[in-house]
Amino acid sequence: MLDVGAGDGRLRREAWARGHAGLFVGVDPHPGPGILAGRAEALPFHDATFDLALFVRVLAHLPRPEQALAEARRVLRRGAWITVAEHGPAHLRATWAALGRPATPPRPAPEPTFTITVPVTVTAEDARFLRRTYREPAEVPSHFFPVLDEVQLLVWWR
Ligand SMILES: C[S@@+](CC[C@H](N)C(=O)[O-])C[C@H]1O[C@@H](n2cnc3c(N)ncnc32)[C@H](O)[C@@H]1O
Repeated sequence: MLDVGAGDGRLRREAWARGHAGLFVGVDPHPGPGILAGRAEALPFHDATFDLALFVRVLAHLPRPEQALAEARRVLRRGAWITVAEHGPAHLRATWAALGRPATPPRPAPEPTFTITVPVTVTAEDARFLRRTYREPAEVPSHFFPVLDEVQLLVWWR
């Protein structure tokens, strides 16, 4: 597995915790522990090295997402998968638009197969952590927190 824009390496740790026994390589321009320094647009690997490339909360931030996807394709074996996860529909649309697709889908998205909604309390420390994952200054005005919010996971099953 190749994790592009792996950040602090949390997906690698999570994969191992869940029993992944194969190779798991993370790449990021600002690598955390165990992650290699590198950029999505010029991956430091030979052609046809990996079976899966992950772009989790990354593509929408890149100025040239199409170049990053082409690079991922180069280092993937035939029949391999690219998995893209974004923060939500707006981010997904931004990624889609950056790839030259219409910013607005031609027809409304179908109803999700199921939706999971989880109430969350976002503390100032959570907000600092989130900002750090974007390499942004971690100062946040504490008086805004805690924020009562909810996280939704929408799943479409084909
Ligand atoms: C929101 S964080 C997501 C990190 C991780 N994938 C996760 O889900 O926790 C976005 C990551 O993209 C990385 N990034 C920014 N530009 C990049 C590039 N050109 N190539 C690869 N990664 C990049 C940032 O350094 C940051 O770690």
